[in-house]
Amino acid sequence: MPDPFYLTTAINYPNGRPHIGHAYEAIGADVIARFQRWMGREVRFQTGTDEHGLKMARKAEEQGVTPRELADEMAGYFREMDEKLNISFDRFIRTVEPEHHRASQALWEAMAAAGDLYLDRYEGWYSVRDEAYYDESELTGEGEDRLSPQGTPVEWTVEESWFFRLSNYQDRLLDLLRKPGFCEPESRRNEMIAFVAGGLKDLSISRTSFDWGVKVPGAEGHVMYVWVDALTNYITGLGYPDDTTDWRKFWPASLHLVGKDIVRFHTVYWPAFLMSAGLQLPRKVYGHGFILNRGEKESKSLGNVTDPVELAERFGVDNLRYFLMREVTFGQDGSYSPESIVGRCNAELANSFGNLVQRTLSMIVKNIGGRLEIVATADADEALLTQVRAACREELPRAFEELAFSHGIEDWMQAVWACNRYVDEQAPWALRKTHPERMTAVLMTLIQAIGELAMAIQPVVPGKAAAVLDMLGVPANARGHADMASGWFDALVEAGHTLAPPAPVFPRLELPETAPA
Ligand code: MSP
Repeated sequence: MPDPFYLTTAINYPNGRPHIGHAYEAIGADVIARFQRWMGREVRFQTGTDEHGLKMARKAEEQGVTPRELADEMAGYFREMDEKLNISFDRFIRTVEPEHHRASQALWEAMAAAGDLYLDRYEGWYSVRDEAYYDESELTGEGEDRLSPQGTPVEWTVEESWFFRLSNYQDRLLDLLRKPGFCEPESRRNEMIAFVAGGLKDLSISRTSFDWGVKVPGAEGHVMYVWVDALTNYITGLGYPDDTTDWRKFWPASLHLVGKDIVRFHTVYWPAFLMSAGLQLPRKVYGHGFILNRGEKESKSLGNVTDPVELAERFGVDNLRYFLMREVTFGQDGSYSPESIVGRCNAELANSFGNLVQRTLSMIVKNIGGRLEIVATADADEALLTQVRAACREELPRAFEELAFSHGIEDWMQAVWACNRYVDEQAPWALRKTHPERMTAVLMTLIQAIGELAMAIQPVVPGKAAAVLDMLGVPANARGHADMASGWFDALVEAGHTLAPPAPVFPRLELPETAPA
């Protein structure tokens, strides 16, 4: 049996509604989860909301509600987004859950027991938007206009605080970061190595000026710095500090998928906390890029914030998923617009794959009564099938294993295009009268190609791929990677399967008259 796979996303701040960046990360993670399950691994997939901290407390105050009321309302929208985007999570964690408080306190106590915590006074810069401390040397601008490296405002903070001896972990963190595969992509890893090599200061890990957080055990008036409890979510979800079956099976995590802005928390602070507590370290942290709206960051002041659920409703969930995974090289920043979604999906899904499926199934129904046992009397053209199989069984999986989704989909698309060229060259509709056995051979080739193409693209467009596989009659439990090589088509033939006239699965998208911002 392959190793179990534990995958997490960042947990989102529910200080507002979800935006396209949250959707992008959820979709990327879901493609990974579905791909790993398809490869036969046992997957545990966790996502959720990060509900404590000053940012939440201030937003609630602004709105005249309690932080808990704000969190309850907004967390609902994040869950709803995941459901609308077909995100196949196993656990949606909210950091207000009592078991999460318990896990965070247990981790705190483990770090205290290791001698890594001490009480002192914090004096320095803090960005509420990033919930991050910054060193003066990292800031740009002067006076009131000082900005963090993320471009967010910072405020001077002075308060009594517990500290974590991060400085003690510099060498071990450098070793970890230098280990191939721990922090990807390469550019982020280099940034982190430079950050750690530049020297680490101890980290302030509690706050006393507000109380919206997990209480520090044995320290009246202190709540944990929100990132301490936020990072702990990854182990809370497996039952930590109890020795549960999930804990034993799934920790250490296979992959923490996060955005590029929070790689520091995941590859420096989090491993240091785990080392201190004597726990195993995650195998990989991957920092994906940012999604921009027509090249610009979405923001309320620009008025270009788009609700990802509306995008999914307008264009279709699978079209949105396909676009985001195909258009943007994972790890880099990318941009979207209604035009680019429509253009990409029409060219590749509707006109290429959809058309291939539609033409092939229609011809089999019209000319052979949909009867697969008759189709199977012909010998398929192995040259094309070999290319399709290589793309679906080897090339796409290899790329997806490395999170190179756009490359994997490109390999898949090349196979789709090869099939369409083959249809055009062979013109099976013209062979019907002159060479009916050749027509059958062409259809025999194409139907097998379509089955493999649909199986391989399931992680990206689960709904549409399932619709194609349903039309083919492939049973739901025979659609895995391993099933491709174990005679799925022969099984259909043996079962005496007959195709029905195909329903359109990939309709063309239309651009709205006035494209929304
Ligand atoms: N709460 C923290 C994470 C704690 S994880 C222990 C946080 N939340 S967030 O809501 O601000 O961001 C959640 C995720 O969305 C992060 O991984 C972040 O990088 C990602 N994105 C936020 N905006 C994004 C884009 N525009 N594009 C892609 N992802 C972006 O950070």
